[in-house]
Amino acid sequence: MKVENIIKEKLSRRHLIKSAIGAAGLAVAASGGLSMLSSAEAAKKKSATLPWPYKKFTPAEIKQAGEIAHDNWFKGFCSYAALSGIVEILRKKVGEPYLSFPVELTTFAHGGTSGWGATCGTLIGAGVAATLVAGPKTGEAINNEVINFYANTALPIYVPDHPKAEIKSQNVSNSPLCHLSVGKWMKKEGVGFLSPQQMERCARMASDMAMKTAELLNLWADGKFAPTVKAPVFANEIPSQNNCTDCHGADIPKTSGPFGTGLDLLKGGH
Ligand code: HEC
Repeated sequence: MKVENIIKEKLSRRHLIKSAIGAAGLAVAASGGLSMLSSAEAAKKKSATLPWPYKKFTPAEIKQAGEIAHDNWFKGFCSYAALSGIVEILRKKVGEPYLSFPVELTTFAHGGTSGWGATCGTLIGAGVAATLVAGPKTGEAINNEVINFYANTALPIYVPDHPKAEIKSQNVSNSPLCHLSVGKWMKKEGVGFLSPQQMERCARMASDMAMKTAELLNLWADGKFAPTVKAPVFANEIPSQNNCTDCHGADIPKTSGPFGTGLDLLKGGH
């Protein structure tokens, strides 16, 4: 029997049974089912498109994001901490799509990406949060400001309600690299890696980056976000930080040439 005939037969049997729903009821149920499907499809489509909805954080919520980031550091380390600090507030304020967002997404980025001492994971978590809320272009511009703040400010600043350890030092990393940032701080504090003090310091870094990102997202939501710095790549002819002497000493190598015309390749798509 053909599929449509099976359906017809089932429908006509139901007619015979004279179910409480009746033909009209069935039609309503069917159309209700369809519209449920299409709204699920619509939600899926919405969640696939950046940016996602945003509601400005109150000053209390910014502090709360910092506190969540601090506490979550001890559950999934730095990148998870910074990202979840922001997303947990948005889950309460906005709901979907943040409720279904896998906040563990950037957990791998801890220790400067899987322990390789590259970019501090807090900056990757914060960059994902900024991108979800403001889209890829503005998200990157906001992240650039956050990285500049990270590299040039004596950190950590945030003092949590529930510290796991007391710490004495703040330090300017002069770099977004986990290795340089945590290394210089540990030297100043006189502690080793995986000491309670180092862990507390990195948890507070996650708070600072989550809070800074939320402040900038608030500015952006008011139409007042204005980038103050350019990414160092533009000045240095090579993706870089501005602390060349930290690694190279006085003998900074020259790049192998000025910017080429490769950006032309981006024109016209693929
Ligand atoms: C975190 C450490 C670090 C920082 C900061 C850094 N570099 Fe490097 N850079 C290296 C290392 C390591 C190499 C590999 C070659 C080497 O040992 O010098 C390298 C290679 C280079 C090269 C490739 C040519 C060569 O001689 O190897 C250039 C050009 C360069 N750096 C320029 C810069 C400039 C300009 C800055 C600052 C704007 C900078 N670097 C900052 C670590 C760093």
